[in-house]
Amino acid sequence: MYKRILIIDDNVDFVEAMYDHVAPLVDITDTAYNVEEAIALIKENPFTLILLDINLNNRNGAEIVKFIHENETPNKETPVIILSGIISSTFVDHYQKRFAGILIKPFPPSELKEKIKEVFDKLPAEETPKETQVHDHHDDHPELHYAGPFEMDKLKEEVKGVLEHVKKNSKLKSLLKQVQVDRSADQYMKAHIGMLINISAAICAKMQWNSEKTIEKFVYASYLHDWALAMRPDLARINTFAKLDLLKDTLTEEDYQIVLDHPNIAAKQISDINEIPPDVDMMIKQHHEFGNETGFPSKCGYQKITPFSAVFIVAHTLTDYIIDNPKWTIEDFIKTNKSRLHGSHFTKIMRVLPELK
Ligand SMILES: [Fe+2]
Ligand SMILES: [Fe+2]
Repeated sequence: MYKRILIIDDNVDFVEAMYDHVAPLVDITDTAYNVEEAIALIKENPFTLILLDINLNNRNGAEIVKFIHENETPNKETPVIILSGIISSTFVDHYQKRFAGILIKPFPPSELKEKIKEVFDKLPAEETPKETQVHDHHDDHPELHYAGPFEMDKLKEEVKGVLEHVKKNSKLKSLLKQVQVDRSADQYMKAHIGMLINISAAICAKMQWNSEKTIEKFVYASYLHDWALAMRPDLARINTFAKLDLLKDTLTEEDYQIVLDHPNIAAKQISDINEIPPDVDMMIKQHHEFGNETGFPSKCGYQKITPFSAVFIVAHTLTDYIIDNPKWTIEDFIKTNKSRLHGSHFTKIMRVLPELK
């Protein structure tokens, strides 16, 4: 059965840690960091389960429970698990029956997974909601195989070295100095990957996602996302569906299909490799999607874009913007891109961009 979960908590590190445990159990994991974001998501999307923190930036998670109770949303019957450090045993005794579970922070991840499993086991069997199903293009081209530009052992070493370097420095300006912004066509891939790593790491630092595990995901995603186009930098530069559409008549059918499917092809290739951390495949799969449904290949909107993917998409878009515009400024970037880098996780990322300078 298709499952979608919403994590609501104002602590970014906590959400990030929970995300790692929850994402493998469901099809889509959404996150909200405050009451407004949570309500916006609850109004629009049917969730299988909601994980709710009580203390939300001086507001109360109970507001969200009340909202669900009193309004017509697709979540009237959605079970809620409360996660909080400020719950008394009286509260637990009193409200036990109202919620699918109450976990007192800090709790071990195993306890959370156990609770989630319990809730899922009780769900009535029902049909997959079609409108929220993410279409997988994976199997449309099972016969396509591409040799990657890196051997896995070399890549592991490379990632380790890059991580050390990035950890020491998170200011975008100094990071950019370390990557030559070489705008010549044959250097595109190298400049693109190097800059993407640095910009992703700089955004992560501003979002206070400082764990090495997180940065590592971005380094892997940067190296591998255009894997299927490694030998075709000319095609890798086609970074929006609008551009691809415009060039359609000048491309062979095969080139057109490779561009359209390269995110899925790369995601599928790496899904069999144990060394790659979780989430990287989703970041790769979504690296050309946009919040306003104009990306490719799935044209999914911001509701389906994960927090890690959103950072990667912003970093990816900014990287190409810098490569394409020698006179780039963050302000111009925000102005030109705010309509497609919008919604849910994008809002917060776009807000920290001006601080990157
Ligand atoms: Fe790409
Ligand atoms: Fe790319």
